[in-house]
Amino acid sequence: MLYSEKVMDHFRNPRNVGQLTDADGIGEVGNAKCGDIMRMYIKVKDNIITDVKFMTFGCGSAIATSSIATEMIKGQPIDKALQLSNKAVVEALDGLPAHKLHCSVLAEEAIKAAIKNYYDKNNIAYDKEKFCQLDCPCTAHHK
Ligand code: FES
Repeated sequence: MLYSEKVMDHFRNPRNVGQLTDADGIGEVGNAKCGDIMRMYIKVKDNIITDVKFMTFGCGSAIATSSIATEMIKGQPIDKALQLSNKAVVEALDGLPAHKLHCSVLAEEAIKAAIKNYYDKNNIAYDKEKFCQLDCPCTAHHK
């Protein structure tokens, strides 16, 4: 079987799909390899991500990784969410085929972009090193 049961489960029944009209931060990133797009919405209260939703024009692996990533950051402090790596997401899904690993990067980057957007909107100082560098497409969306 190419995909783990967890991948299939999150693909067929993705968690936290949709948008948050009153989001505190929105991150949109594109995958340079395939052209897929991911948008992530977060609600933040007292530094905790109280709610998160995502929408994507992406493949099944992008849907599954984003779905589980939203579960992993919901209710967590922002600092924890920033540490979420695509590797941890893939491990939580019991793996992805090698040629699909790039899809998991979308989720990680979209979360970071949403947090960055939240910081920017609220004039909160942050360590730029923790975010994408200047040539990254996700920084272009939310200047
Ligand atoms: Fe585009 Fe998977 S093929 S995110």
